[in-house]
Amino acid sequence: MFKDYLKEKKDMIETALMEELNKLTYPEVIAEGMKYAVLNGGKRLRPILLLMTLELLQKDIRKGLHIGGAIEMIHSYSLVHDDLPALDNDDYRRGKLTTHKKFGEAEGILIGDALLTHAFAILSEKREGISAEDLLEIVNLTSRYAGVNGMIGGQMIDIESEGKKIDFETLKYIHANKTGKLIRLPIEIGCVLGRCSKDEREILVKYSELIGLGFQIKDDILDVEGDFEKLGKPVGSDIELEKSTYPSIFGMAKAKELLEKTIIEAKDILIENFGYERSKRFLDLADYIGYRES
Ligand code: IPE
Ligand code: IPE
Ligand code: MG
Ligand code: MG
Ligand code: MG
Repeated sequence: MFKDYLKEKKDMIETALMEELNKLTYPEVIAEGMKYAVLNGGKRLRPILLLMTLELLQKDIRKGLHIGGAIEMIHSYSLVHDDLPALDNDDYRRGKLTTHKKFGEAEGILIGDALLTHAFAILSEKREGISAEDLLEIVNLTSRYAGVNGMIGGQMIDIESEGKKIDFETLKYIHANKTGKLIRLPIEIGCVLGRCSKDEREILVKYSELIGLGFQIKDDILDVEGDFEKLGKPVGSDIELEKSTYPSIFGMAKAKELLEKTIIEAKDILIENFGYERSKRFLDLADYIGYRES
């Protein structure tokens, strides 16, 4: 079952994350806050994508555990800051109080900063079996995709677009960047570590862009009709803030249609290029992203 596969990979990532985070002790509030923000029941989708890419390329997935953990730290930091009063102002995340609610606002900002910077310390560490050149490419990709031309750019336009009517191009920019880039990142890192061909990388990047888009459309849909208990975060937050989302711009029925189309397209690209058998995990993952409840 794909669910068991996800669970197995999630456990491996969490072990690596705990190993990294347990090394941190001082200042206590930062060390505690970093653990709180990361080790709290996320799906671990991004690091799992890295492990899946390594598996697809028949490489040792152990190469991706700590690097995947670093990506999860960056993702978790993006959530800590996304929930701050100045951004989405949310009180619950992953079924618990948000980090700033638990530790205070200044602490929340610094805990987020610490997660981001510490991720780069982990990424740039010497690792057996990984060349300095590959690490440099990984650090470069990560800094670009997390930054102004990536997640931060998308977050800024998301915030700027509150209460406004935006065009489809702008909506696509928001989704491709605030969410898409951190989903594309682990797949591309997998390509670097797995030394795949240029053609294979192009196909995997296309797939990652489509599932990234599908992931955020589904997130927007769940914000309207999801269940707080399952999501672990508030429902209705986007409507309250008058966010520009697929449901707000196209209506719910059309948003669902576009989601389905995106997931089918993602799967077709892999089947056409890698064949059904080799793509199986990625096909299951695309369905999981499109039809998840949390
Ligand atoms: C939530 O991401 C933020 C978005 C980019 C939509 P996830 O849904 O992956 O959150 P966790 O990590 O599982 O909590
Ligand atoms: C946030 O998108 C994407 C990030 C970069 C954190 P959302 O604001 O929709 O994420 P949720 O719904 O709060 O998880
Ligand atoms: Mg947001
Ligand atoms: Mg939010
Ligand atoms: Mg959302």
